[in-house]
Amino acid sequence: MIIDPVLDYRDGEIGTSHIDDVIKFIKKKGLQIKYILDTHIHADHLSAADYVKSNEGGKTVIGKRIHDVFMHWKTKFGLSKLANFDFLVEQNSHLYFGDHIVEVIETPGHTPACVAYKIKNHLFVGDTLFAPDKGTSRTDFPGGSAESLFTSIKRLYTLPDHTNVYLCHDYPPLGAPPTSCVRLDWQKKRNVMLRQDTSEEEYVFARKQRDDALQAPRLLDIAVPFNLTFKLPH
Ligand SMILES: [Fe+2]
Repeated sequence: MIIDPVLDYRDGEIGTSHIDDVIKFIKKKGLQIKYILDTHIHADHLSAADYVKSNEGGKTVIGKRIHDVFMHWKTKFGLSKLANFDFLVEQNSHLYFGDHIVEVIETPGHTPACVAYKIKNHLFVGDTLFAPDKGTSRTDFPGGSAESLFTSIKRLYTLPDHTNVYLCHDYPPLGAPPTSCVRLDWQKKRNVMLRQDTSEEEYVFARKQRDDALQAPRLLDIAVPFNLTFKLPH
């Protein structure tokens, strides 16, 4: 199972060196790809889900409310048809692989269709929580909502403290390694934007203030249409 696979993209050209390394690793281990999961429609990179599926097989999976996301961007990018995903999942959807069950938790806020994937005490949160010193994901994209993200994260905070939270992004200082995993109790105690005791008013105010200062992601005009259709825009 691969979560949020990424294509390389530079100067108008798609590259596959990173995802090819992932595929090589899977082959070396003698594994077969069953699912390719995306946590949401990313605005800052191109998903390799379709590339992996075409070359290695596996079923593509994304949140059911991707239809809402498509409607939000359709006109801006002149999109005619959403890509075909094999499974559109929602709250409490289960995916089975080997002896494991992947539970789907809807986490709207950053986008309406965001989902987290939970395997035992491992939680792949997509863009919801970032590393504790970075806070949470932005909520200013069409269909985004700071209030919804507050509710989604508070729902994640009801999981056991020893849950391992796997992050989508980190922005470490130059030379420092990125943080990829943090325990949930650490987030509840230390997250700079949303701790266990943060009120909705306090969070929404801080989130909106931060969003007002953010620029659009550099690749948005390419990544969003590509990730919704698996075709590069003209
Ligand atoms: Fe994102």
